[in-house]
Amino acid sequence: MNDKELIAQHAADRVADGMLVGLGTGSTANCFIEELARRSREQGLKVTTVSSSIASAIKAQQLGLPALDFEQVNHLDLYVDGADEVSPELTLLKGQGADLVREKLLATASQQFLVLIESNKLVERIGQHFAIPIEVMPFAWQLVKKQLEANGGHGDLRQNANKNGYAVSSHGSLILDMNFDVQIDAKALNDMLNGIPGVVEHGIFYALATTVLIGVNGQIQERKAGHC
Ligand code: A5P
Repeated sequence: MNDKELIAQHAADRVADGMLVGLGTGSTANCFIEELARRSREQGLKVTTVSSSIASAIKAQQLGLPALDFEQVNHLDLYVDGADEVSPELTLLKGQGADLVREKLLATASQQFLVLIESNKLVERIGQHFAIPIEVMPFAWQLVKKQLEANGGHGDLRQNANKNGYAVSSHGSLILDMNFDVQIDAKALNDMLNGIPGVVEHGIFYALATTVLIGVNGQIQERKAGHC
C-alpha cells in the first residue's frame, strides 16, 4: 500500500454511520472514495455522499455509494479532499484541477475538513511550487488580470490540456494562474482575492482545514488546526 492509499484508508476509518460526507476531487480523493465504498460494502457502513465534481460523483455512483445532489445539501459532517500545497498554518492551495468552486463550498459547509496529502505537498509558503489558480468570469478576465497585476501578480490564462485553447472550469469560468511576490502572506492574498470583482473563486483555502493527514514513508502524521 502506498502513502496515498494509506492515508485514504485512515480517513475512511474515521467515517461514522449516518454521516453526510463530502467527496473531494483528484487522485487522493479517488483513493478515499474507493476506501469509503469498501467499508460500506464489507462493513455495512451507512453513509450519504455529496461530490465536489462530476468525476467524483460518477466514481461514487459506480461504486454504489448513496449520493445527494449538491443542491440538496446545506451542511456536511465531514469533507475529505487532497491539496496541492499545505503551509505550516494549514492554509491550502487547491485547484490544479478545475473544480475549486464546489470544493470550497463543501469545505466551508462542513463541520470537519480532513485534508489528505503526501509529504511533498508541505511548503513553507503558499505559492511556493504552484501559481495561484483564480477562476474568473469569462468576460471579466482582462479587468481582473489588471487588478491582480496592480497587486503584484503576474501570470496568464491557463491553457487547455491540448494547448490549443483555454481551460474552462467545471463552473464555466476561465482560470488565471498567477504568481505573487513572496512578501504577500496567505491571509493578505486571500483577503485581496476575495475583494476583486469578477473573481468567482480562488485556490487559497484559508482557515478551512480542521485536520491534515500526511503520508510519510508508510507512516501517518496528523496536524490539527490551531496546534501546529
Ligand atoms: C482539484 O481541483 C484539486 O484541488 C485537488 O484536490 C488537488 O489538486 C490535489 O490533487 P491530487 O490528490 O491528485 O494530488
